[in-house]
Amino acid sequence: MEKDAALPDVLTAIYERRSVRHFSDAPVDRKAVTELLRAASWAPSGLNNQPWRFAVVWDPPLKERLAGLTRYSATLKGAAVLVPVFLDKEASYDYVKDCQAVGAAIQNFLLAAHGFGLGAVWIGEILKNKDAVRDLLGLPERLELMAVIALGHPAHRKQQSHRRPVEELIVFER
Ligand SMILES: Cc1cc2nc3c(=O)[nH]c(=O)nc-3n(C[C@H](O)[C@H](O)[C@H](O)COP(=O)(O)O)c2cc1C
Repeated sequence: MEKDAALPDVLTAIYERRSVRHFSDAPVDRKAVTELLRAASWAPSGLNNQPWRFAVVWDPPLKERLAGLTRYSATLKGAAVLVPVFLDKEASYDYVKDCQAVGAAIQNFLLAAHGFGLGAVWIGEILKNKDAVRDLLGLPERLELMAVIALGHPAHRKQQSHRRPVEELIVFER
């Protein structure tokens, strides 16, 4: 997409970010991951309760085992690092609002990854095995899996997506 000089950077990032499911072998810097987690943690949350928690999985055998828990296994195996994202039920005050907050944190992470020239995808399909993911990582029951983010350097930038026109989305205006 052509960069529109009139568009604020944040909007350019929002419009240009795509889900990346194929990665090169290039390593991802640990410091970059810390920055992405910091960006995630600056998401809004109800009462500023910050209910998100993150795991960071670099270990290839462990990535392989996580990959075995989703039909998107090729994407998980190909990623340099996996970031399972949890809701901490002990930090929770309202389940729906807390899930929304974790979603906002994930979106911040994805946008920040795009800003670093990295690629990422939000994997929700693995939630069918959310307890198995938590057990594999040896984490306590109070952590409920919300998603796994697969992160790496994009193998290509040919991803395309589409959105419905905004006019179709407005259900009320007066
Ligand atoms: C809640 C949620 C769950 C998702 N689960 C998956 C998934 O399991 N596998 C996958 O490849 N993409 C998954 N995605 C990514 C979507 O497919 C993607 O965001 C959508 O097709 C729009 O494409 P874009 O992100 O490139 O704009 C998920 C996205 C969200 C928000």
